Amino acid sequence: MTAFTSGWLALREPFDVAARDAAWPAFAAQCGDLRRRATHGARPLAVVDLACGSGANVRALAPRIGGWQRWQLLDHDPALLTEVPRAMAGWAREQGYRVQAGSGPRDVLRVEAPQLRVDLVRCCVDLARMPDTMAFAQVDLVTASALLDLVSAPWLDMLLARVRASGAAWWWGLSVDGRIDWDPADPDDALVHRLFEQHQRRDKGFGPALGPDAVPYLRQRQAVVGCTVLEARSDWVIEGARAGTGASAMLEALVAGMADAALAQQPAAADAVRAWQARRMALVRHTRLVVGHLDVAGFA
Ligand SMILES: C[S@@+](CC[C@H](N)C(=O)[O-])C[C@H]1O[C@@H](n2cnc3c(N)ncnc32)[C@H](O)[C@@H]1O
Repeated sequence: MTAFTSGWLALREPFDVAARDAAWPAFAAQCGDLRRRATHGARPLAVVDLACGSGANVRALAPRIGGWQRWQLLDHDPALLTEVPRAMAGWAREQGYRVQAGSGPRDVLRVEAPQLRVDLVRCCVDLARMPDTMAFAQVDLVTASALLDLVSAPWLDMLLARVRASGAAWWWGLSVDGRIDWDPADPDDALVHRLFEQHQRRDKGFGPALGPDAVPYLRQRQAVVGCTVLEARSDWVIEGARAGTGASAMLEALVAGMADAALAQQPAAADAVRAWQARRMALVRHTRLVVGHLDVAGFA
């Protein structure tokens, strides 16, 4: 879960999509200005997607905004950036959209549908170093999904200050908030969750990670943010009994990932954690898991 392979991102994407569908009504009304600019502007709406992975955030947001958009996709992992055209093409086929792709990594990828044209450019960049390319000049929207809980408080402060200076709107999707609900419950859920959460706070390259404190921290920074913070729950709801949804594989990956993180955090807890993992794996098809996430956004 901390090795962001394209396989893991593809596994979680349907749950991300459902989670963001649930959060969307809280933001819909405030998107009017972005929609207007994308639809009637003389230039495309300029969007920067931080830590884009294989492009899930584009797929979640671009059709909701509509019109003409130009996304700059930033990530430090060249393998994930290489995956973007394939992932976009698969999604576009399902939606009945057209995709045009050049052959080079720097070529513009275009997705087109009635009322929608999205140009995508990819850039391999280490965001932890906050290169000057992150000045966000002439950018309308700065966004990220599943990033905020990986970063540190000073890094987030720097990001918020830069976004505010640019006057861009911002939208951070899918930050974990620490809620977790297993059904059926297990006596060692609390132990594993406590260790897992400690592991989430380890340095992921940006300094000590905020983990589930990311959104509460953001709320406190209202003055830096400079506008009202809108937020809504975007929880993963994973029901192992629902065949054909990828739920069993998702639950297995989460159980294994949580157990590994818990063990890395406290090797002495190995017996309890491995026994928890075995019990949880045996129950996958009868398990319902809710993992709390929040979407937050600010429209200047
Ligand atoms: C949880 S994944 C989210 C990916 C994508 N936004 C999504 O929602 O599917 C976190 C992403 O952060 C990227 N990342 C982590 N550290 C980074 C860094 N220092 N610079 C740029 N990207 C980074 C990873 O490569 C990965 O794509």
